[in-house]
Amino acid sequence: MKVIKNSLEGIREAAEILTNNGVVAFPTETVYGLGANAFSEEAVTKLYKIKDRPSFNPLIIHVSSYDMANMYGVFNSSANKLAEKYWPGPLTIIVKKKKSKIVESATAGLETIALRCPRNITASKLIRELDKPLAGPSANKSGKLTCTTPKDVYAKLKNKIDALLDGGNAELGLESTVVDCSVEKPRILRLGNITLDELNRRLDHEMSSALPLQKQIKSPGQLLKHYSPDAELLLNQNGPKKGDIFLSFGPHPKEIDGLTLTETKNLVEAAKNLFTFLHVLDRLSHAKGGVPIKVAPIPTNGVGAAINDRLLRAAKK
Ligand code: TXA
Ligand code: MG
Repeated sequence: MKVIKNSLEGIREAAEILTNNGVVAFPTETVYGLGANAFSEEAVTKLYKIKDRPSFNPLIIHVSSYDMANMYGVFNSSANKLAEKYWPGPLTIIVKKKKSKIVESATAGLETIALRCPRNITASKLIRELDKPLAGPSANKSGKLTCTTPKDVYAKLKNKIDALLDGGNAELGLESTVVDCSVEKPRILRLGNITLDELNRRLDHEMSSALPLQKQIKSPGQLLKHYSPDAELLLNQNGPKKGDIFLSFGPHPKEIDGLTLTETKNLVEAAKNLFTFLHVLDRLSHAKGGVPIKVAPIPTNGVGAAINDRLLRAAKK
């Protein structure tokens, strides 16, 4: 695998690899994505294989503008409202699919399509250079810990992908919020940095939420067990003891192995650090012969809801 520098030339090189049906890890403001040309059956097939992703789980299609998104999906009034407010940005909007050159396997044969216009400049330039929609699931093996840094992508995928476009660490650290606008009443399928409260304020009515323990799973990827480290995760833990591995919220207790998501109890900072620190502690757990990772209680307000959602799934056995 080639590591490509984030420069105009680097972006051109990455786009060239994508044009030739290669798979390239690329930065976005949320997490790293694994990119493939959405018009290429060969590239998309390769992508599913690399991720070990079941073929029924559709991919997010990344675009560089609203106009580009409009070529592939039918934007009704709620989809338009959300796109206008949050694009480019960490929101994925599901709408009815238009007939296009996007291969069926990328959308798992559904009648809907998930579209996202990232605000990360490198991602945006890459899509413009490719001049085609970019299929981009998160850069990790299906069900495993998400990667938010080039270092983690390298460690997990170096032998499997063609290139990594190094755009530094992800700004937000959690996958995009996913809203299904293909139904009459839009509903949230995945929590993220844009919160449910914020979305409800934008739309005329309350959205329903696919909460973590809800039985009915609409989004095929919203399986209960997901984002899993190798180590066992124990949630809502207080008072760690010597020998434990602890992921804290607020000042880290003295003489306890581990890290704090945020010294100052800042939830946005905690979200940004969550997956990076889980990678670090997963390695520590491995080095200590499989000691579980204990995680402090995290408040559920604001982006805390999304953090708790990820942790619940990551801890699921
Ligand atoms: O922040 C993100 O969204 C990142 C970056 C790379 O953009 N991408 C990402 O992709 O998280 P992925 O594949 O890990 O998650 C996409 C989610 C999955 O849960 C998938 O099932 C759901 O979106 N999805 C995609 N198309 C869908 C559709 N038509 N209907 C319902 N859910 C859909
Ligand atoms: Mg994912």
